[in-house]
Amino acid sequence: MQAAMPTGADKQTAVRHMFDAIAERYDLVNGIVAMGMDTGWRRRCIDALELPPGSRVLDVACGTGDLCRGLARAGYQRVGVDLSAGMLSHARTSAPLVLADGLCAPFRPACFDGVVSGFALRNVVDLGSLFTELARLTRPGGRISLLDLGAPQAPLLAFGHRIWCNYGVPLVGSVLSDASAYRYLPRSFAYLPPADEMVRLLEQAGFGAVQHPLLSGGISQLYVATRRDGAGRA
Ligand SMILES: C[S@@+](CC[C@H](N)C(=O)[O-])C[C@H]1O[C@@H](n2cnc3c(N)ncnc32)[C@H](O)[C@@H]1O
Repeated sequence: MQAAMPTGADKQTAVRHMFDAIAERYDLVNGIVAMGMDTGWRRRCIDALELPPGSRVLDVACGTGDLCRGLARAGYQRVGVDLSAGMLSHARTSAPLVLADGLCAPFRPACFDGVVSGFALRNVVDLGSLFTELARLTRPGGRISLLDLGAPQAPLLAFGHRIWCNYGVPLVGSVLSDASAYRYLPRSFAYLPPADEMVRLLEQAGFGAVQHPLLSGGISQLYVATRRDGAGRA
């Protein structure tokens, strides 16, 4: 029988230790398990911000800085925050990086025009708290674009995806990195609520005009939204 998935403070500690442990080979393994598709997904995530060049964008749970590099290419000012010192120490970006919990990030209210996040939603302890914090950090009219993995619905794709996630990813992880970390990946899908609940949490936190495009047939997904102003306009 599999151990129960951790929650609360236990989850945060487990996540931090896991990413510290796999940081050195994270980029290598990530590219292999995503079969290179993550490059296009990240581009879609950044494009979805639709902010003017020079806008200030926060990358929450920036890890080794992949999205920060994309933000720079798109002409944005960027800052990364992550709770894993290991991931930050292997980051390849010139963006300022801050070691902190994204659920209580050390920045002034409304100081960002936009926020992005890649593959972190499954890893945070409480999505409602994350979205509330993103609403605090984003100026009215600002944009958020949150990327994570998903579960495709088309039967053949869903079958192949299940096989890859349950057997292929742990195998690659065990050869190149840490087996238990990559066994966690398929199990971590259970942390993501269904789309209608995600939209409800985003709206409750202060975002509107929520969009939920599926990428690569649903293998990954984006949540894109606009920070409502005081009058509730998005
Ligand atoms: C799968 S990695 C993604 C890294 C990077 N965003 C990317 O696109 O490759 C998830 C990251 O989320 C970070 N993380 C998880 N919970 C966090 C939190 N509460 N605050 C900040 N970072 C967090 C982890 O340390 C890890 O670096």
